[in-house]
Amino acid sequence: MLVFTLCLYLWSWLSSIHGLEFRYHNSVEMEQYLKDINRTFPEITHLHSIGQSVEGRELWVLILGQHPREHRTGIPEFKYVGNMHGNEVVGRVLLLQLIDYLTSRYMKDPLVTRMLNSSRVHILPSMNPDGFESSARDCIYAVGRYNKNGVDLNRNFPDAFESNEEEREKEVRAVMDWLKTETFVLSANLHGGAVVASYPYDNSNRGSELQGGKSISPDDDVFFHLARTYSYSHTEMHNGDSCTDLTDFVDGITNGYHWYPLSGGMQDYNYVWAQCLELTLEISCCKFPPEKQLPGLWEANRPALLAYMQQVHLGVKGVVMDSYGKPVQNAVVEVAGRKNLCPFRTDRNGEYYRLLLPGNYTITGLE
Ligand SMILES: *[C@@H]1O[C@H](CO)[C@@H](O)[C@H](O)[C@H]1NC(C)=O
Ligand SMILES: *[C@@H]1O[C@H](CO)[C@@H](O)[C@H](O)[C@H]1NC(C)=O
Ligand SMILES: *[C@@H]1O[C@H](CO)[C@@H](O)[C@H](O)[C@H]1NC(C)=O
Ligand SMILES: [Zn+2]
Repeated sequence: MLVFTLCLYLWSWLSSIHGLEFRYHNSVEMEQYLKDINRTFPEITHLHSIGQSVEGRELWVLILGQHPREHRTGIPEFKYVGNMHGNEVVGRVLLLQLIDYLTSRYMKDPLVTRMLNSSRVHILPSMNPDGFESSARDCIYAVGRYNKNGVDLNRNFPDAFESNEEEREKEVRAVMDWLKTETFVLSANLHGGAVVASYPYDNSNRGSELQGGKSISPDDDVFFHLARTYSYSHTEMHNGDSCTDLTDFVDGITNGYHWYPLSGGMQDYNYVWAQCLELTLEISCCKFPPEKQLPGLWEANRPALLAYMQQVHLGVKGVVMDSYGKPVQNAVVEVAGRKNLCPFRTDRNGEYYRLLLPGNYTITGLE
């Protein structure tokens, strides 16, 4: 009996110091892991589902922060989304590792503590769990990319430059509804098959946004900075040649359209309609690599994932108030010289967040 107890003790001690195993967790195991985290760290985590996949799997989002259950004025909302292409699985693994990293270091590591005290982090490790379950463990091909209805979720969002009347898939509707519940400020969605940070726009209707083969947004300077923050904090991405047979990317970044135009993507949707600046991060040459490569991929991406999260504090934030000091909802907050396709507006608390590089700006809040 004593031996048995000792073994149990040793086992739980070992698993607590070793952290989450580097392997592929299926949807059942992932759900169990997220529930364990939610139970173990009730002060700084909150687990909820934003909807279900076509096959009925929950789309779990873990929120981390000092106040995980609700938005607080002045604390920006950040998100990471993984595995929207079911066979691009490294993002899913790294986001679970990131959850492990952040929860185990809160109140121990000053950077992590400051990060979770000053921002609220939402993590959706798998947007396409059905695709994941049907994936072939393969580097290149597309088995498992699509959702259960055979739809590419990164082509299924409304598009700013052409009409995309396709019926919205359940996973896409869940994300669109999720974007209405919080004012997300900054986001990235994680893919595989290349190593590059890609930024909006992904599409164009050959209007004034098209400049030199790129589709340039009003916040191009900010996106350029964000993409370079990721690629230069990554151990290799900034070299731009990590997957030998593919395009060379200067600085490890690319304008989405310049790489290849696409309609109905999630990144443009976030930026144009949800005023959330989003990057598409391609983080591994192989879409579904052998498990033994996962620790190396985590080491390569970890500093970049952390540095990118800190960019949520770039620029300015504030509350628009009327002459009585009452917060004004839905006020247009405009930065002179930046004509966003949909103007940025204050949220229900009258708050705004504008990611901007250091400089001199004229900002107006119009009711
Ligand atoms: C998360 O933990 C809380 C208790 O701290 C519990 O009430 C809640 O049901 C858990 N959520 C999930 C989705 O398991
Ligand atoms: C973070 O917040 C906790 C809880 O309010 C507080 O005890 C701690 O001092 C804060 N730490 C930092 C670095 O902000
Ligand atoms: C900022 O720009 C405004 C308007 O162009 C100008 O009046 C002001 O002098 C500038 N301030 C600084 C510090 O450059
Ligand atoms: Zn992808």
